[in-house]
Amino acid sequence: MNRDPGPHHPLVQRLIDARHVTDALFSIVKPEFLYERPIRERHRIVFYIGHLEAFDRNLFDRRLFDLPALDPQLDQLFAFGIDPVDGGFPTDQPGDWPSLNTVHQYGSQARGQIDRALGALTDSARVEASAQLLNVAIEHRLMHAETLAYMLHQLPLEQKVTHLREAVVTGSGRANGVPSMVSVPAGSAVLGMPREGGRFGWDNEFGELRVDVPAFAIDRYMVTNGAFREFMEAGGYREPKWWTQKDWAWKEAENIEHPACWSRRTASGENNQWTLRTMFDEVPLPLDWPAYVSHAEASSYARWAGKALPTEAQWQRASQGAPHAGSGNFDFRSWDPRPVDAYPENVSALGVEGQFGNGWEWTSTLFDALPDFEAFPFYLGYSANFFDGQHYVIKGGSARTAQCMLRPTFRNWFQPRYQYVYAGFRCVTG
Ligand code: AVJ
Ligand code: FE
Repeated sequence: MNRDPGPHHPLVQRLIDARHVTDALFSIVKPEFLYERPIRERHRIVFYIGHLEAFDRNLFDRRLFDLPALDPQLDQLFAFGIDPVDGGFPTDQPGDWPSLNTVHQYGSQARGQIDRALGALTDSARVEASAQLLNVAIEHRLMHAETLAYMLHQLPLEQKVTHLREAVVTGSGRANGVPSMVSVPAGSAVLGMPREGGRFGWDNEFGELRVDVPAFAIDRYMVTNGAFREFMEAGGYREPKWWTQKDWAWKEAENIEHPACWSRRTASGENNQWTLRTMFDEVPLPLDWPAYVSHAEASSYARWAGKALPTEAQWQRASQGAPHAGSGNFDFRSWDPRPVDAYPENVSALGVEGQFGNGWEWTSTLFDALPDFEAFPFYLGYSANFFDGQHYVIKGGSARTAQCMLRPTFRNWFQPRYQYVYAGFRCVTG
């Protein structure tokens, strides 16, 4: 192989760049812990090493090119992740998985096959014609770069490398004295986008839907750890009336007393007795960071505050005119949040700050199809498997969300009692 392949087509280059992001993630874990399962609802870490490569292989094979057979059993084993609902947990053991050697070999062979085939795609018109499949591979991998980050967040600190530890940024203080809610006049919000137009989007982003939204008010900033702590100190976690029946039952059964990354410090006599687990550290709770909580905890806080979570349409309407590039905590710029008011230029036309980056935001809208929904024929279950009334839409993005997925139509979703996502919230009234 001594011929110079020349510069890659930008889409091919983005796939290569995305691989660097996910490869770097696995190297956060000390190798002897790669068979751990940091989140009990999800697969062991090793699954994802195989999954990212098997997904691309399975996607491209016979659609983009004819790849040579590799290992049909591993293609299958690593094809799809899991999202068990209603308390079912996987029970597989580390020994049920192939060795690291086998997984790494499978991965590098899959990549090799794909790269040889992509290298032969010298005609840029053919790359353009394959843009949808390439974008699916790129964004699928980048989504896992985020879901893996929050999974590794839960891994005990001593099982990770520490040289990536970063300084905690708090205290911009801008929020003081600024009216805390922004009035949004009645008007319309546009969800989704038209199919014609040639932009890439996932199946759930198509179909343009205009929604009339009555006037409402929305928090200028995301709800902070400091504000959420007030709810806790007011006994929020001990008062059933703030919780739905199902959320309360979950909280009781699981003994949930605080957000997933919070711990109560044992030393007394201080007024901030909480610490927060960051990606690589344990720090005194940063009071001006967004509170990352489950939908269950967010909506209980909102009820206690006499407010509600925004609908997807309200959130979308509030965000009109916000820039999706430039200033903000996204695109892997840091591992952890910044103060909620740290990005004054990341502001919507109405003055709502920080909707893109620094934490996804829960909505009160169940994830569902837009009108004219059509699943991708090559990935029927991507969204449709989750139109089940058990997942809520989150919008915006976190520090670990790639730039390309900050587009306003991008829709993400999770179960309401899942505490680990980099998601917080803001409230609405009216
Ligand atoms: C869109 C982030 C909810 O992680 O469950 C990755 C993305 N789907 N592989 C998920 C996804 C299949 C999905 N979310
Ligand atoms: Fe996946």
